[in-house]
Amino acid sequence: MIIRDSRLVGAVLYGDTTDGAWYFDLLRRQEDIAPIREALIFGQAFAAGGGASANPLDAVAALPMDAEICGCNGVSKAKVLACISGGAHTLDAVRAGCKASASCGSCTGLVENLLALSMGADYQGERANAPMCKCTSFTHEDVRAAILEKS
Ligand code: FES
Repeated sequence: MIIRDSRLVGAVLYGDTTDGAWYFDLLRRQEDIAPIREALIFGQAFAAGGGASANPLDAVAALPMDAEICGCNGVSKAKVLACISGGAHTLDAVRAGCKASASCGSCTGLVENLLALSMGADYQGERANAPMCKCTSFTHEDVRAAILEKS
């Protein structure tokens, strides 16, 4: 995190990038982060809960409608929700409908959280054993295991 005058001016995320949209929104809005500075690095759910862990669906629900969910394709939360309410009830359908999660995939967790938020128990999630992308049949876990085996 890069903070200047109690404003977030930069952030680099590794691994779980779920909070990327929230950080980008704080950066874009130039919000005063002084009240949550100590919790900022732990993500939106932690910061919003006053330091307590919270449901990740609450975090995505709290994002403003104009928050950017997919940076690759410039898709806002409002556009993803419109896509879902228009009948896109799977990750692939959202990708085809509004292009969110259709490129690098780093926003896939956020898109899945929006699917779960919109559909409730009807959405079962898709990533656990899904291939990393359409170019391969390997899952993230397959690749992790291969890296460990060959290192
Ligand atoms: S950020 Fe959405 S596909 Fe890259």
